[in-house]
Amino acid sequence: MNPLRIAVLGAGLIGRRHIQTILSMPQVAELAAVADPAADREQFDGAAWFTDETEMLDRIKPEAVVIATPNGLHARHGQLCCDRAIHFLMEKPVTVSLDEAAALVKAVQQSGVKTLVGHHRRYLAPVQEAKRLIDEGRFGALVAASVVWATRKPDDYFKVTWRTQPGGGPLLINAIHEIDMLRYLCGEVDCVSGMKSNAMRGFDVEDTVVAALRFKGGCLGTLICTDAGFSPWTIEQGSRENPTFPYSQQSAYRLIGTKGSLEVPVLRSWTAQTPDDIRWDRPISGEDLAPVWLEPYQAQLSHLQRLIRLDVAPMVPVIDGARTLAATLAVAQSSDAGSWCFPRNF
Ligand SMILES: NC(=O)c1ccc[n+]([C@@H]2O[C@H](COP(=O)([O-])OP(=O)(O)OC[C@H]3O[C@@H](n4cnc5c(N)ncnc54)[C@H](O)[C@@H]3O)[C@@H](O)[C@H]2O)c1
Repeated sequence: MNPLRIAVLGAGLIGRRHIQTILSMPQVAELAAVADPAADREQFDGAAWFTDETEMLDRIKPEAVVIATPNGLHARHGQLCCDRAIHFLMEKPVTVSLDEAAALVKAVQQSGVKTLVGHHRRYLAPVQEAKRLIDEGRFGALVAASVVWATRKPDDYFKVTWRTQPGGGPLLINAIHEIDMLRYLCGEVDCVSGMKSNAMRGFDVEDTVVAALRFKGGCLGTLICTDAGFSPWTIEQGSRENPTFPYSQQSAYRLIGTKGSLEVPVLRSWTAQTPDDIRWDRPISGEDLAPVWLEPYQAQLSHLQRLIRLDVAPMVPVIDGARTLAATLAVAQSSDAGSWCFPRNF
């Protein structure tokens, strides 16, 4: 397979991680250009550098683009790619609003471009293995799921003003990944009840959010997400996904089925010796499963290559990112309205 000719829009924190990933996989992708009006003009392997994204797209004509610009620019940058029939990987959230997401879904369908949204944790080996085991029925029907994402962001994190304002809090920055994961493992979200609080930090944005979710298959779920509490329970700490998060050996997810349960990402399964032992007065056996380590950004880039070259089914296309956004915003809507909320359909 030929490497993809990729350009990156936005060379900030996460754009640079994409650039490093591209440069580390020359058999998968070649860095054709970078566009960013403000970033330091570091040279990334001699790639062309532009300050104007439209000029870059028209002159370089990349085969695919990674969009890692601020959230508010996602809709416009996705549309620029659709207008030019350029495939793209959009960082999450797919857009800021559901109306923007609907317009982008339509533009993608009309242009026929192939898309991914950067919910990179779906590519983690323990998540892939959990999905396989759940789908093969190892744990029976899923009854309930619980997820905790709880860590204390350092005070200097909040020197960046947008992180203290609506939209910059843990719901759209962190919980959106967990809701995407719950959708992936437990199925489509039917309805949501949420509660937000800013009691710990006192900013205009939440520092803590909780939600109860009902999935269309009948499973129920709970979510706790806070950036004000110090705990070993985040998927980053349990998966070694991100070097900033020291490994805690703890799972953030508990998935409970009629025949057994699974902790993710440590991937400890709990099952009975025989079908007759599936009852509360019999022992339950724990087993540590050990999936092969996959670096999620590399796995995501390889998947983009297979998506474009081999036409494999996309892991998270724009429409899927829109569904995750709808379920995530439903948590905020429910909290504001004080009632259950049904996510918009895509
Ligand atoms: N997948 C994840 O876990 C994850 C983690 C962090 C951030 N993100 C997402 O990635 C995106 C970027 O976040 P970040 O933390 O890297 O932000 P950032 O502020 O560090 O970087 C954004 C970059 O975009 C550049 N930019 C602004 N306008 C531009 C334009 N018109 N054309 C090209 N570049 C432009 C800025 O100069 C900046 O360098 C956000 O959508 C964010 O939600 C995803």
